[in-house]
Amino acid sequence: MAGLFRPAALGDLSLPNRIVMAPMTRSRADEHGVINGSAGEYYAARAGAGLIISEGINVGPMSNAFDRTPGLWTDEQTEGWKAVVERTHKQGGRIVAQLWHAGRASARGLLSNRQPLSPSGVNDDLERLQVWALLANGAYVRVAATSSRAMTKVEIETVVNEFRRAAANAVRAGFDGVEIHGANGYLVHQFLSPTINLRTDDYGGSIEARSRLLLEIVAAISDVMPRSQIGLRLSPFADYNSTRDPMPEDTYGRLAPWLQTAGLAYLHLADTNAWTGASDYERMLAIFREHYRGPLIVNAGITPERAADIVNTGEADAVAFGRLFLANPDLPARIRAGGPYNSLQAVGIYGGSDAGYLDYPSLAFIDEQIGRE
Ligand SMILES: Cc1cc2nc3c(=O)[nH]c(=O)nc-3n(C[C@H](O)[C@H](O)[C@H](O)COP(=O)(O)O)c2cc1C
Repeated sequence: MAGLFRPAALGDLSLPNRIVMAPMTRSRADEHGVINGSAGEYYAARAGAGLIISEGINVGPMSNAFDRTPGLWTDEQTEGWKAVVERTHKQGGRIVAQLWHAGRASARGLLSNRQPLSPSGVNDDLERLQVWALLANGAYVRVAATSSRAMTKVEIETVVNEFRRAAANAVRAGFDGVEIHGANGYLVHQFLSPTINLRTDDYGGSIEARSRLLLEIVAAISDVMPRSQIGLRLSPFADYNSTRDPMPEDTYGRLAPWLQTAGLAYLHLADTNAWTGASDYERMLAIFREHYRGPLIVNAGITPERAADIVNTGEADAVAFGRLFLANPDLPARIRAGGPYNSLQAVGIYGGSDAGYLDYPSLAFIDEQIGRE
């Protein structure tokens, strides 16, 4: 496991180890998108990660796939995050903000009765979109997505500006950088996908045109922070939210050389179909490795043992863990000790109280309870 505990440099981010916390929505913000007070304790408890990637943070009021997700467009939201970041830094951690626009994966009920936005208003697959809401009785349930409509060019420009503003607020909140959420069937991924993006203007059609939104977002964020603090998450093969790209080698094969010259802090590849047991890891890596030699984080369904192999062979610089980090606040210490690991509990994954949020014990806590040295 020693390889996982070697430091790594991802752009301006200096990681003391290669164990990254994957972004995980926990849906505990208030009705104004202000992160809750418990989040400071939740993230600070995971400060042993080489890098924490925050839960997805909405860049504006038209982004909302999961009820009670936090935002970063108001002063109040920014102040909320500032407290979380300060607490995480105090524990010696590093944290970047995952900037998210859900696009068509939403519903009027989550958008003050406005219609969700999408590249082209493709609506024949709404039952495949993951939209979740908090009911008055406290239950957090999947709800029906409502039909989206194609964005105007002015609305596209607004979204780009929202990413810039959210990044500026991330700087104000003290985050160490940002990660653009270009994965899992949300807006950036929707634009990249030839099945969801059917536009005939300069944002659709060719791969260059489908990539335009992403490139404009990177340029906008570069106005407020160096590129060496900007990460990008992609999931070329993800079926999630019905965004399957029939030609990922073409789409992402064209993006890879651009990434090689873009000077971003890192590329974060999510093998999203691995959640359902259908890994595309080898194909995914092959697309990028031909042209991209910059810092790389890989994720999804990777065990600590496999992660050690990945960093030892140089396949990637770091490995992000999702569910394992959710259930094990002191994951690096547990990996060093060879386990054991807490298992994920069904309670409180999304929404609710501190149950399932702050009550996963650390090894040190367990040792204290049983009086073990
Ligand atoms: C509760 C939960 C919330 C998630 N929220 C996000 C998110 O906000 N942004 C994102 O890019 N991925 C999100 N994911 C996906 C994870 O980042 C990760 O890709 C996934 O858990 C697979 O990694 P694992 O096998 O290590 O758990 C979420 C996953 C879980 C389990």
